Amino acid sequence: MRTDQDQPVRLADYQPPDWLVETVELDVSLHPTATRVRARLKVRPNPSARAAAPLTLDGDGLTLKSIKLDGRPLSADSFTATPDKLSIPQPPQRACLLEIETLVDPTANTQLTGLYRAGATYCTQCEAEGFRRITYFPDRPDVMAIYTTRIEAEKADAPVLLSNGNLVASGDVAGTTRHFAVWHDPFPKPSYLFALVGGALGHVEDAFVTMSGRNVALRIYVEPGKESRAGFAMDALKRAMRWDEQAFGREYDLDIFMIVAVSAFNMGAMENKGLNVFNDKYVLATPDTATDADYASIDAIIAHEYFHNWTGNRITCRDWFQLCLKEGLTVFRDQEYTADQRSRPVKRIADVRVLRAHQFVEDAGPLAHPVRPDTYREINNFYTPTVYEKGAEIVRMLKTLLGAQGFRKGMDLYFKRHDGHAATIEDFVGCFADATGIDLTQFMRWYRQAGTPEVAVTMSHDAKARTCTLALAQMLRPTPGQSVKEPMVIPLAIGLIAPDGHDIPLTLADGRAVERGVLVLSDPAETFVFTNVGTRPVASLNRAFSAPVKLTANLTPDDLHFLAAHDSDPFNRWQALQTLASTLLTDNVKALRAGNPMRTDGGLVAALGTILADPQVEPAFAAQALAVPSEADIARELGRDVDPDAIFTARVALRAELGNALGAALRDAYRRLSDGGTYSPDAASAGRRSLKNIALDLLAASGSSAAIALAARQYQSADNMTDRLAAVSTLSLYPVRERQAAIDDFYRRYQSDPLVIDKWFALQAAIPEPATLERVQELTRHPAFSLGNPNRVRSLVGAFTQMNQTQFNRPDGAGYAFLADTVLALDGKNPQVASRMMTAFRSWRALEAVRRARAEAELKRVAAAPSLSPDVRDIVERSLAET
Ligand code: PHE
Ligand code: ZN
Repeated sequence: MRTDQDQPVRLADYQPPDWLVETVELDVSLHPTATRVRARLKVRPNPSARAAAPLTLDGDGLTLKSIKLDGRPLSADSFTATPDKLSIPQPPQRACLLEIETLVDPTANTQLTGLYRAGATYCTQCEAEGFRRITYFPDRPDVMAIYTTRIEAEKADAPVLLSNGNLVASGDVAGTTRHFAVWHDPFPKPSYLFALVGGALGHVEDAFVTMSGRNVALRIYVEPGKESRAGFAMDALKRAMRWDEQAFGREYDLDIFMIVAVSAFNMGAMENKGLNVFNDKYVLATPDTATDADYASIDAIIAHEYFHNWTGNRITCRDWFQLCLKEGLTVFRDQEYTADQRSRPVKRIADVRVLRAHQFVEDAGPLAHPVRPDTYREINNFYTPTVYEKGAEIVRMLKTLLGAQGFRKGMDLYFKRHDGHAATIEDFVGCFADATGIDLTQFMRWYRQAGTPEVAVTMSHDAKARTCTLALAQMLRPTPGQSVKEPMVIPLAIGLIAPDGHDIPLTLADGRAVERGVLVLSDPAETFVFTNVGTRPVASLNRAFSAPVKLTANLTPDDLHFLAAHDSDPFNRWQALQTLASTLLTDNVKALRAGNPMRTDGGLVAALGTILADPQVEPAFAAQALAVPSEADIARELGRDVDPDAIFTARVALRAELGNALGAALRDAYRRLSDGGTYSPDAASAGRRSLKNIALDLLAASGSSAAIALAARQYQSADNMTDRLAAVSTLSLYPVRERQAAIDDFYRRYQSDPLVIDKWFALQAAIPEPATLERVQELTRHPAFSLGNPNRVRSLVGAFTQMNQTQFNRPDGAGYAFLADTVLALDGKNPQVASRMMTAFRSWRALEAVRRARAEAELKRVAAAPSLSPDVRDIVERSLAET
């Protein structure tokens, strides 16, 4: 545990490191409980820092065995060593060699940071501050060094020994049953990108020729026997490597690129230089075990980690406040990769759904923070939707503002200017300003100001003057620690659509230009007058979601129907239907709360029917249109007095109405899309399956017993996990005999496959019925469940708290108590996963009064627990803070 946990770290206090590290030579002798780490560090005073500074190294739970300076043991009075810090108060003020020996116990490491064991495999996780759990080091990203790593282990336990860079030597340790490997990484890197793996692993191998003709060996390491499941990941890797060359001119730089899949991992994956370590969920896939969504995640995450090689590794972050420098940019890059590989509009819709579901919700609650925070207590709590997804939106807005060419020029300059360095957001944005001559000073507020801007648009048309006026106003509400906000730069892509469905040329009366159809709102309120507009058009606003804002406009239901049918921007066709559905649902929730009858919307049903029947419409798009706003979406739209039971009721009613009214068309689509060909995970096939399965789900929602029989049949006859899981998920919503049969069968079929058993846990945790909490509690005692494995925790507890709004939010508070108990039980083992689970309380203040009081009581119970980790304490205290 670190001792400075109560001192927040502030961006304003940044100081360059006093000492630099030129080279690191590690010698790691793996042992299950006593791994010996010898580090030889060539250190020197930083010429641009304080003179005569002490040499202070970070540690976390370390045991020091020995220490030498320039070859001589240090006397006991010339240094101090605690588990958390090693300090030499009066070091020689010149380059010197520091040799440190520490002992660590990977088997006892349940936090899964530093050196730990995933099953029998030794592996490391160093981001953000895990390297200090392996050896004493200036563990901050602006200290970049060249690493050479020797690993030694029992040949029988760990025949495979890997680290960053290129393999330079390997062999047996004479006279023992041990062997060794030496890896050298020629690129300077921060300690958080260090990695080491040792174990009995199988692998698949391939090769890639870079655009300049260099040959790169590609290897994916998996548990022996699972090699055949790594083929899709390898294919994704090669496509990502090619795409980065074509889209950004970025080439890979080492002779080998390795990915290791491990079964116990706190996050999705990690971009360690040349040696990515992955949660095996994002590597392993076969048609029988992985869904289309799993394949899509694998594709995106393999690409994401690969793209970090340039955005994160070659150019890294100066300090952890700059986390979005690598994460926001790399998410933007992986989103663009997916858009180019699959359907761009469908990808944008999916990304905006995620942004709203997670980031908008975070931004509206007590955990809101700027994309670049200016203070933190625990950096691990800042790997958030805001840093990642909103960070990506900011990069997307840069591209929208500067155009594709200006954006590429800025990126090229960034790679040229900052390669090999630890950079800041100012450095990054400065490259775009310098490359294009555009002033981005006000734009920087996107990094500083938390909260989702609200933009109100009023359109009016003057037939006589043949003008159309858009009056725009922006507003940003206070967020924790930021009561006063300044206006943002908001790029709004728009169109004015004539009654015949065509876009009208945008000509501004005052001669200002509307480049690429983007209005830039930078004042609190601005008016744009368009000339030569003879008949009243319909405004299509924030096309492709060009700005991450909440938009309201004086669009009538007729306008929305017109947009749904005619907008040349597919995103806004989808948005128009979502707006209609969302309005209906929130109206009905309010009606239910007031004891009034719900209304229906025949126009919406008809519009969805039209899309369903139109063979020109991409099936994946139709599926997105038919997926009505989720319970969490409706809660977010309501914003206050949230009653999850009323939301559930309103949503069930709409789904039943769709199932009933569109029954014939849904059955027709189901038949048409059940093509029975061999499974392929490609986007078009996945889109057909998603539409087919949503058709099945809506048919079941209408209460049809034929649909239940159809789902049961699909469950049995499915030749892939997508169809099988979709069928049992539909069944799981209804108290029918077929449900338990399918759930039991699912377990029997897949009990030897942990990643599929995760789906089995999640499926049951999401059942929206009062018996579920008890069932979830029972499942925590199932032999396949373990608090030690993050994927199991997320699949059972995470699914219950996130996918089951009515049962997590039971009015009696039992769901909240369960989460609090779980967090308290987990915190001592794995504080990072515990604090992640705790964020399920992030919207507690928006709940109606009874639930709000219950949630607050549980938050306070956790806050009062003795010995909380800094991770959970930080989340709980921020959640409870009065704003
Ligand atoms: N940096 C990882 C990514 O690519 C995420 C991560 C953070 C993984 C911290 C482990 C620990 O997004
Ligand atoms: Zn990342």
